[in-house]
Amino acid sequence: MKDFHNLIEYKPELRELATFTPNKISSIYNWFYYKEGFSKQLVEMILKDFDVQKEQVILDPFCGSGTTLLACKQNNINAIGFDVLPISVFASKVKTQDYNIEELRMEKERISKTRFEMPSPEKIHEIIPIFMKKYFSKFALEDIVFLTRAINGTRSEDIRDFFKLALVNTAMKISYAWKDGAVLKVKRHPTPPMRKMFKRVVENMIKDVKNHQSGESTIEVRQCDARTMDLNNESINVIITSPPYYNNIDYTKIYEIENWFVRNIIEKKPLVRSFIGVKEDFDMNVPERSKAYFKDMKQVIQEMHRVLKAGGKAAIVIGNGYDAIEGVVESDIILSEIAEDVGFSVTKIISVTERAALVERTKKVGSLRESIILMEK
Ligand SMILES: C[S@@+](CC[C@H](N)C(=O)[O-])C[C@H]1O[C@@H](n2cnc3c(N)ncnc32)[C@H](O)[C@@H]1O
Repeated sequence: MKDFHNLIEYKPELRELATFTPNKISSIYNWFYYKEGFSKQLVEMILKDFDVQKEQVILDPFCGSGTTLLACKQNNINAIGFDVLPISVFASKVKTQDYNIEELRMEKERISKTRFEMPSPEKIHEIIPIFMKKYFSKFALEDIVFLTRAINGTRSEDIRDFFKLALVNTAMKISYAWKDGAVLKVKRHPTPPMRKMFKRVVENMIKDVKNHQSGESTIEVRQCDARTMDLNNESINVIITSPPYYNNIDYTKIYEIENWFVRNIIEKKPLVRSFIGVKEDFDMNVPERSKAYFKDMKQVIQEMHRVLKAGGKAAIVIGNGYDAIEGVVESDIILSEIAEDVGFSVTKIISVTERAALVERTKKVGSLRESIILMEK
């Protein structure tokens, strides 16, 4: 069998681009903070490298906070995004929609003129689920109930969603929630007044809309499982994506607060299993405990192959994982093997960084590559 290690090229200068950090200062990209995201610059680099043309269609089957979709929109390229997480689908939609700036301004006025009425403890109890309460101060909870009601008075759905995302964004800035790797922790600290912060967030978002011309491309976002894509065969030119990493995080847990804001319910949809150790009948030379993950990923890569046109290209950003029994799990190599198995030709594996694999938080037991796998159908 081909040794995919020979395809690895080291480019540590791309390390930061494979993270969300550059997006923190990019307008619109920063309307929703997504720790697991990659950057606009990385997407633009791949679009250029793949020589993507305006009439082509790009797919991101794990669109997360919508980085690929927004970068395509800003470059006048059509794109489709899927995700299973309600907040991801929602944030991606809000960030890639076109807005009428006058309508936004009028709605901002209406919301800011809505008289604050202190919700009773019963009302707060009725609206806010118990799990949410530990993440916010009493004052923040009152403001959340008030602002949710004020925003719900917005008639146009697109405009309402814009303000809802501003509310999620504000709430996460002032919450006690702390995303510590795979767990959501409570870290109490003094917080600024929420309504004042909300006003500032909305003003900045409206400014961003004003500074960005709407383009002619079409962006579609849907809640869909990447293992069974709702797309015709050979309908996509290029795929740019980053699936959940093996052994990484449970997105439904980490984004449970944001999901509540979107739906006021917590959805439990089966995601790609990034850590469930199930022994299954899966004919692959991968560690026993990671079979469930790679079985899911094989389905995804088969789907990617089905929907791509002949000659279509794909870039997958992936980090390697660690398993206490098996040691380092080389996801980039295993996914490359799967890709060639389903009919892709893997052209390059760009390693952008190596993270330490830690046990008991500080003990280094290995190093984990983070890579971009480039392939062609
Ligand atoms: C690494 S993140 C993608 C981040 C994205 N590139 C960005 O810049 O924001 C992986 C995403 O995959 C989603 N996901 C997990 N299982 C999925 C599935 N079966 N189908 C579609 N999306 C899924 C998660 O909700 C998460 O948003």
